[in-house]
Amino acid sequence: MLDPELRRALAERIRYYNELGIYDFYRRETPPILTASPEPQDLGPEEMTPRARAVVDVSLGKECGFEVGSAKPETGIADPAKALRIIREDLGDCTRCPLHKQGRKQIVFGVGSPQTDLMFVGEAPGADEDQQGEPFVGRAGQLLNNMIKAMGLRREDVYIANIIKCRPPGNRTPEREECETCSPFLMRQIAVIQPKAIVALGAVAAKTLLAINAPMSELRGHWYDFRGTKLAVSYHPAFLLRDPRQKKEAWKDLQMVMKELRLPMPAKNTE
Ligand code: URA
Repeated sequence: MLDPELRRALAERIRYYNELGIYDFYRRETPPILTASPEPQDLGPEEMTPRARAVVDVSLGKECGFEVGSAKPETGIADPAKALRIIREDLGDCTRCPLHKQGRKQIVFGVGSPQTDLMFVGEAPGADEDQQGEPFVGRAGQLLNNMIKAMGLRREDVYIANIIKCRPPGNRTPEREECETCSPFLMRQIAVIQPKAIVALGAVAAKTLLAINAPMSELRGHWYDFRGTKLAVSYHPAFLLRDPRQKKEAWKDLQMVMKELRLPMPAKNTE
């Protein structure tokens, strides 16, 4: 059994993570270096240091007789639209990272169908999105709309969200800490929507979701497994506005997605 003081500290830590929107904890293998033992071996809880015991107990939860944290507030909600509303409420008037005091007008949560097969994930809201409270409504958004249309879909058929829900000042690239603080809410949106495919738009989205540091040229053109969901990487529409020659490449990415979702390919214009 856990030491009461350790149990209290652990419960407090878990509450802290829950307040940040983090509810999933993963079991980390406990290395045998925790006790002075000549041979690597499986250690029973009593032989571990208190810290190691805590890690294991968090992962084992009730099995160890310890109630770990609380369920996500959207757990058990069958209606995805309602579950998304609950996540939005949990986000509240977020002050979890410094962006809340750096000029954001409002939180930009996400838009589209909560029951879609296809989700697009961008980087962060820009000035237009901050103004209107909806992702991808500026020039990059117009291009994204055209890309969605080219796939034979409408904007309202898909779900669109960003890694970061608040506009970084001057549209600077989000910092890693901001991505880490905000992305648990996106993970929860994805878990509720359960799309068949996710398209990460640009390097920030791709690197945050995949935890891979690689150039776009290497990231594109493959399917990745993102927690059981297929994930493809494509160029960010803002990049395509700056370098329209890459649109051809982006179209290849979208065709790969269409094939996966069994969407009909547009007939070739032979005129
Ligand atoms: N760029 C993004 O990454 N997201 C938006 O919502 C708008 C522009």
